[in-house]
Amino acid sequence: MTEEPVGPTEWGPAEPVGVGPWEGPWPTDERYDPELLAGGDRRNVVDAYRYWRREAVVADLDRRRHDFHVAIENFQHDHNIGTVVRTANAFAAKAVHIVGRRRWNRRGAMVTDRYQHVLHHPDVTALLDYAAAEDLTVVAVDNTPGSRPIERTPLPARCLLLFGQEGPGLTEQARQGAAVVVSIAQFGSTRSINAGVAAGIVMHAWVRQHADLDTAW
Ligand SMILES: C[S@@+](CC[C@H](N)C(=O)[O-])C[C@H]1O[C@@H](n2cnc3c(N)ncnc32)[C@H](O)[C@@H]1O
Repeated sequence: MTEEPVGPTEWGPAEPVGVGPWEGPWPTDERYDPELLAGGDRRNVVDAYRYWRREAVVADLDRRRHDFHVAIENFQHDHNIGTVVRTANAFAAKAVHIVGRRRWNRRGAMVTDRYQHVLHHPDVTALLDYAAAEDLTVVAVDNTPGSRPIERTPLPARCLLLFGQEGPGLTEQARQGAAVVVSIAQFGSTRSINAGVAAGIVMHAWVRQHADLDTAW
């Protein structure tokens, strides 16, 4: 039996990820973290942020963040939230909002929540009040009757993309409170796709319509 070769983006078991201690004279810029310079930087961050203090990374991201927010209902401990947070970080969402239960499973976030603003709202009313105060158009995402295909619906630049949870999907209050409900076209037998996957598709639809692609890494 031969061993499967490790692909270019796979991490071999013995291969440490990231970079080792800084070689040569240390940079004097205060964004650099002396501990990381001395010991190496094994974090899940892009090369541009290697050896930077966490606060410096967040400050730089705050300068680059986009005008869309992401919200997900969490009334039953939705296990997709980590994935949503990680993808929101990758696409530089302004913030992630968790509606309902405060606790969520951080495993899928791969520590990206350290660099992402994550806000909590006890219920849908509080979320909608926040959106109104921030002048954000609420775009609910679910494949319920009356929804518009996202493939043919322009997304507002300033918006809050609101997702439901596995099982029940979006609450009636969330659907009613949204300016529009959009659905992702499906062609198979399943009633729906995973909420984390749906969030990635819709965030990327926003990116395709509004982001300055010249600023992507
Ligand atoms: C697994 S779905 C459950 C609800 C779904 N309406 C059903 O009947 O099965 C959980 C969430 O994922 C998102 N979602 C899944 N499939 C979608 C699709 N085709 N279009 C839009 N959103 C979808 C929505 O935010 C939804 O609330």
